[in-house]
Amino acid sequence: MSFPKNFLWGGATAANQCEGAWLEDGKGISTADVLCGASHGRRRENTIEVLSDRYYPSHEAIDMYHHYKEDIALFAEMGFTVYRMSVNWARIYPNGDDEYPNEAGLAYYDGIFDELHKYGIEPLVTMAHFETPLHLYHAYGGFKNRACIAFFVRYARTLLTRYKGKVKYWLTFNEINTVEHGCWGHTAMTDNDPASVAQAAHNMLTAAAEATIIAHETDPENKVGMMLAGLFSYPATCNPKDIQANNEFMDKQFFYCDVQCRGVYPKWRWQEYARKKIVLDTKPEDFEILKKGTCDFISFSYYLTFLTEDQEDHSKKTDLVSGSNPYLPKTDWDYTIDPMGLRIWMRELYRMYEKPLMIVENGLGAADVVEEDGSIHDQYRIDYIRDHLLEIEKSMERDGVEVLGYTSWGCIDIVSNTTGEMKKRYGFIYVDKDNEGNGDLHRSRKDSFFWYKNVISSNGEIIHQ
Ligand code: BG6
Repeated sequence: MSFPKNFLWGGATAANQCEGAWLEDGKGISTADVLCGASHGRRRENTIEVLSDRYYPSHEAIDMYHHYKEDIALFAEMGFTVYRMSVNWARIYPNGDDEYPNEAGLAYYDGIFDELHKYGIEPLVTMAHFETPLHLYHAYGGFKNRACIAFFVRYARTLLTRYKGKVKYWLTFNEINTVEHGCWGHTAMTDNDPASVAQAAHNMLTAAAEATIIAHETDPENKVGMMLAGLFSYPATCNPKDIQANNEFMDKQFFYCDVQCRGVYPKWRWQEYARKKIVLDTKPEDFEILKKGTCDFISFSYYLTFLTEDQEDHSKKTDLVSGSNPYLPKTDWDYTIDPMGLRIWMRELYRMYEKPLMIVENGLGAADVVEEDGSIHDQYRIDYIRDHLLEIEKSMERDGVEVLGYTSWGCIDIVSNTTGEMKKRYGFIYVDKDNEGNGDLHRSRKDSFFWYKNVISSNGEIIHQ
């Protein structure tokens, strides 16, 4: 058996992309609630308040808020042993800086965790998945303000205390390295100059480390993961200039692993800040917190790989070139399909940091067709996931990598994060809703639902068929 006996199998979602009920039971407005819908392939924009003439897909999403029992029953039918989800910060602290948490928000997640445990499904909870209370933008200018450290820590402490015994797998910030490239959902910042980004990154890393310390103190059973966006890139050519450009791009991603796994800033980062005349606002205790609050495992997302080429040679606006690898096919949304790349990067991550890995996002965003009889034949999704699982298996079997589990992204169709579309579906479970918000939200099983159920019940054996 190449998948270990206790391998965690499941799926993943984020609150803002599935819950809806955006103002129910005392929830405040989050950064995700002001992200508009966009058309195919276009990255969606945010407003800074809710405008009456714009469509905001997260406001209803797939209304999991009211369907969670039905949805969890479907996850259980597939045999999930883990479900990755996020708590929406603005449900617990509607403004982010409130003194006391919102009991109705806390009770809602109690209901979810109890329902999961009813079926023996372990919750894996992301504390912040691009859902920052919007008030933190208006009142503090977002995460570049050190005040946000304490707000996040208070929120984390509330979760860790309240759900002690119900949740033992935690992730702090989803895809923390997206801050490097400016990420509204996380930072609640509209100014993305290098100094503000560096400060926001420091504040978030410090907050995450403090949350990790609290998690370990609250319950020694707690396991806290860092969560890295799989922005994995190859040099575009064997030109040393491209290799250097790629190293620099990858260093920016691994910086977050360096801090969250080793507890220290790498020297090159200080050199870079000195060159750019960036002076961070830090306190000596930040560095003690970073040192003590290292993570227990590395979780990451993996959808595609990138190519990087040197700017000077090719006069590109950015070093990163996506989707042009001649050796790889692409999805309808222009993502390269690179299962072997998953093995390559898992090996790299494991060699560098020697922490167990968990793939907490992977999957194929595709436009599914519902046949007249209601069936959905998504063989392309089965192929995609099978090919990635085969590489995960090789990384364990041949590269000695320790892997805790696999949660396929958007195990039920949800709103796309980058485009706001419903059409870009990842799920094993179809949800009747379109890009404009039409549909009766009923759930149905795709072919991949039955296939994934067999994957789990055979502990991965059927991927060889
Ligand atoms: C990850 C995010 O970057 O990619 C998810 O953590 C997101 O929130 C996922 O949904 C897939 O991206 P998209 O744009 O296809 O939804």
